[in-house]
Amino acid sequence: MIPPMTILITAGPTCEAIDPVRFLTNKSSGKMGYAIAKSAADQGHRVILISGPTNLNVPDLVDYIPVESTQEMYDAVEHWIKKADIAIFAAAVADYQPANISEQKIKKDAETITLKLVKTPDILGSAKQKFGYQGVLIGFAAETENLEMNAREKLKRKGCDLIVANDVSRKDIGFNTNQNEILLISADYIERPPKASKQHLSHIILEHAVNLAAPRGMD
Ligand code: C5P
Repeated sequence: MIPPMTILITAGPTCEAIDPVRFLTNKSSGKMGYAIAKSAADQGHRVILISGPTNLNVPDLVDYIPVESTQEMYDAVEHWIKKADIAIFAAAVADYQPANISEQKIKKDAETITLKLVKTPDILGSAKQKFGYQGVLIGFAAETENLEMNAREKLKRKGCDLIVANDVSRKDIGFNTNQNEILLISADYIERPPKASKQHLSHIILEHAVNLAAPRGMD
C-alpha cells in the first residue's frame, strides 16, 4: 500500500488568444495527463489537475483547475506546486504567444497581416529554478528525431528527475491516440516499456514517480 501524496499534473494544450474570438493552439488531447490523474486518484493520492481545454471528463476525486493560456497555467502552477510531493508536466504548452492580443476582432481588410509572436514562459523550467520546488519533477518530451539525446538534454536543462519521451512523428502513438510508446530517462536509468494504452502507461509513470519520491522521505 503506497502512502498518499499530493501530485500536481499539467495536461492538455494551452490556447493563446489572438483576438476575442481567435486563438493559437495544438493537437494535444490531454489523454496522457488525464490518464495519470485518474490512476493517481484511484490509488488514493490527492491530485491537482491543471488543464488547458480538452473534451475529456475530469476524473473523480481530482482537484481540477481549468486554464487557457500558458500564462494562466504558469500562475496556477506557481500557486499550487508548493503543496506537491510530485509534479508531472504532461501539458503540451505553446512555445509562442501573440505579442499583443487585439481587443477587437481583427477585420479582414488587409491582403496580408503579420502576427508577431513572443516566447511563452517555461513552466517546467521554472519549477525548481524560480518557484523553489523541491519535490519530484517529471517532464515530457515530444520529439520527432533523436529522442534519447533530446530527452537527456531536457532532463538536465530543466532540472527534472525523470523525462517521459515519445516520438510524435509516428501516427500510431502520441497525439490524439489512445496508445503510446514511451522512453523513461532519469540520471541513473533508461527504460523502454512496450507500446501500450495510455491508461496502462500512466500506472508505469506513476510507479516511477512514487519510487523517485520514496528516498526523499515522502513515503
Ligand atoms: O521544451 P519542451 O517544450 O519540449 O518541453 C516539454 C516539457 O516542458 C513538457 O513537460 C511540457 O509540459 C513542459 N513545458 C512547460 N512550459 C513550457 C513549455 C513546455 O511546462 N512553456
